[in-house]
Amino acid sequence: TGQVNLGVIPGDGIGPEVTTEALKVLEVAAPGDVKFAQTTYDLGAERYLATGEVLPDAVLAEIRDQDALLLGAVGGKPNDPNLPPGILERGLLLKLRFELDHYVNLRPSRIYPGSVSPLSADVLGKGDVDFVVVREGTEGPYTGNGGALRVGTSAEVATEVSVNTAYGVERVVRDAFARAQRRPRKKLTLVHKTNVLVNAGSLWWRLFEEVAGEFADVTTDYCHIDAAMIYLSTDPQRFDVIVTDNLFGDIITDLAAAITGGIGLAASGNVNPDRTAPSMFEPVHGSAPDIAGQLIADPTAAILSAGLLLDHLGHPEAAARIEEAVIADLAAREPGARRRTPEIGDAIAARVAG
Ligand code: NAD
Ligand code: IPM
Ligand code: MN
Repeated sequence: TGQVNLGVIPGDGIGPEVTTEALKVLEVAAPGDVKFAQTTYDLGAERYLATGEVLPDAVLAEIRDQDALLLGAVGGKPNDPNLPPGILERGLLLKLRFELDHYVNLRPSRIYPGSVSPLSADVLGKGDVDFVVVREGTEGPYTGNGGALRVGTSAEVATEVSVNTAYGVERVVRDAFARAQRRPRKKLTLVHKTNVLVNAGSLWWRLFEEVAGEFADVTTDYCHIDAAMIYLSTDPQRFDVIVTDNLFGDIITDLAAAITGGIGLAASGNVNPDRTAPSMFEPVHGSAPDIAGQLIADPTAAILSAGLLLDHLGHPEAAARIEEAVIADLAAREPGARRRTPEIGDAIAARVAG
């Protein structure tokens, strides 16, 4: 209730295109007594190329004071000579996730009636696909712990060291158990590679087992990351909640998107469960330079991400209205028909408005 300070980072490529539609839907979905005070931050490739700035400290400080954040996507064309690799990904997106302590990267996956899955009728016939990936968001191989020696020579050695702390693993595992406990099936699967990554794997396994003791009614399961890829494509119904590390979670959730109707539908929340800083909501997809500027991107993932934002702010009914509107929109999609980005946004907004 009252005023919500909303920071918006449209970003690059299709980011601004889909964010416009998400904001449209957010406005009509929010309860009447919620007023958004919006601040837009022009962070991304354009600003970097014009000024050399990625995320100035003063801007980060302002962002930290918002109640919630909505992000489109950041990143330029692959291998653009003017844009060093990772400059925006690491310096902007990951910096926000780390600085704002987004240790739960929440990525729900559902096959909605009406979404077009590439899975066979055989696989789909086994039942509903509805799971959520709790991807660790502040550690793993993403921390930038590593380096390169003798760069450019035939003796070059490059390392990216995965950082896993007991503190970081335990808090995300506990959050995942709590989420599993709130769902009807109450099942949590740890996905890792404990047979090879024995140091990190032992830590994850030990804490998973320990925290399981506090959630006696949650069924636990484990699979190695490689086998998890098999099950996602042959038996996705076995998953309810998945908890996993930062990099495995990144990969799992693109496949999860692909099997549940496409990357254009996959929403995410970078959540700070302790609410010591604003959480940030964004589609799973990137800036899609291959289709940017044509207004043909599907804004549904960004719209569903706005729904996750409303849910996080304590408005589950508004979030549900968005999801219902998306389901209705998907059901009404004509195969082969190509609607433009704003048409999809308008259609979903109209359904939310009733
Ligand atoms: P991508 O997700 O941008 O695109 C992958 C494929 O999916 C492309 O063919 C694209 O056209 C398609 N696609 C993506 N979103 C779509 C949508 N809403 N509707 C229809 N089609 C869609 O991944 P990429 O090509 O590997 O990366 C492009 C850039 O985005 C890179 O710079 C990368 O670092 C960055 N990136 C950013 C984020 C983020 O901001 N969260 C996420 C992933 C990638
Ligand atoms: C995502 C993206 C990011 C990630 C990149 C752009 C840093 O792929 O949000 O899934 O790997 O987390
Ligand atoms: Mn990704």
